[in-house]
Amino acid sequence: MDKALNVCCDFDKTEVGLALSRLTLVNFRNYKYLRLNLNKPFIVLGGENGSGKTNILEAVSFLSQGRGLRNAKLSEIKTFDFLASQQPSPIFINNNGWAVSAQIERAGETISVGTAVESQIKEIEYNELKEVERRIVHINNQKLSSQNELGNYLSLIWITPQMDRLFIGGAQHRRSFLDRIVSAFDTDHSRRLSSYDNLYRQWLQILKSGKINTNWLISLEEQIAGVGTAIAAARREQVAKLNAFMEKNPDDFFPDVVLELSGTIEKLLDEKPAVYVEDFYRESMQKLRHSILNNDTANTLNKTDLTAIYKRKNIPAALCSTGEQKSLLLSIILSEARCLKANRGFPPILLLDEVAAHLDDNKRQALLSKIKDLKTQTWLTTTNILEFSSLRNDGQFFEVKDNNITEISIER
Ligand SMILES: Nc1ncnc2c1ncn2[C@@H]1O[C@H](COP(=O)(O)OP(=O)(O)OP(=O)(O)O)[C@@H](O)[C@H]1O
Ligand SMILES: [Mg+2]
Repeated sequence: MDKALNVCCDFDKTEVGLALSRLTLVNFRNYKYLRLNLNKPFIVLGGENGSGKTNILEAVSFLSQGRGLRNAKLSEIKTFDFLASQQPSPIFINNNGWAVSAQIERAGETISVGTAVESQIKEIEYNELKEVERRIVHINNQKLSSQNELGNYLSLIWITPQMDRLFIGGAQHRRSFLDRIVSAFDTDHSRRLSSYDNLYRQWLQILKSGKINTNWLISLEEQIAGVGTAIAAARREQVAKLNAFMEKNPDDFFPDVVLELSGTIEKLLDEKPAVYVEDFYRESMQKLRHSILNNDTANTLNKTDLTAIYKRKNIPAALCSTGEQKSLLLSIILSEARCLKANRGFPPILLLDEVAAHLDDNKRQALLSKIKDLKTQTWLTTTNILEFSSLRNDGQFFEVKDNNITEISIER
């Protein structure tokens, strides 16, 4: 029997509801090959800047649908050649793509998950061929028809240093943040989003080509209106659900938050039935045919934004201090995790990249104790491993250095 498999049996399955007991990376960023055997609820990765901590979290994030925590292009992930020649790999990948695989422990069951990149030759125009890269996903050695099915097996929530600017940066980041929350609860949401992008791209392409096929445009507009309205409705329902949960289960440490959604379609759904909204959407798309080519921002239909209100002070997060914004974000994430656990029966795995920045000692300890209550596995990165020394009984500590990783013990 594989030695690594024995390690997962050390996992106390009553201790955590969802955890990875093994993670393997092949040709992934600065790792030609890496295998980690895991047996604790907290996984702490410490190392200097640029040592490869976030890359490991990013690899885990590819166990859910989408483009991972960096929203990366598939092609930029595989190990650059200079590293590929330095590190020996026991696994041969014939298309030189990358792969991540893991063993998940969930409700007493062990599930194996793998994702990799596959190159395909696709005909884009008559007689014009293009090599495209596509992500493939396996569960228990069976190929899944879509990566969206991954959500049935595990859910992940992440916080990255870039999210420190979530409330003050561009609306598209808040939209993706909200869409990740919706997708964690409703696995169909990612399918709707990719279908919307695909339809919208085709619609724009026809208009740009100048070869207007009116029937095809009408058909696309109808489909866009249907999917677009369903996306808006799902976002609206999710915000209402999370608000209700937060109101009923306020945190005794992190601040109370109320989420607000703005957007033409979402607002219209407050007042009108979905069929009316779909008609409005379709007619608006038709009007956009003329303006969209001159002005890319003409499509006001998808300008949905999410605002977080700091309830006690009754001010939007954008006007709060840096530390307050971080606390509001943690409050939302913790509520999402609790609500997911209540809804789906198992908690999400948390990926917290440099989460201690902007948090005083008191808040950091409070966060760790709230996470312990969730009974899930949490991955933490830090440049100073000692800031998580209080986790010595529940955590596995790794030093990340020279494109490799070594388990270390933290002395009392
Ligand atoms: N495709 C790739 N092939 C090889 N190396 C890569 C690839 N993509 C990124 N890297 C390198 O991986 C290294 C580690 O990046 P990572 O973001 O994981 O560091 P980190 O430990 O999180 O650093 P920090 O503390 O600054 O956040 C970087 O030096 C980066 O240049
Ligand atoms: Mg990093």
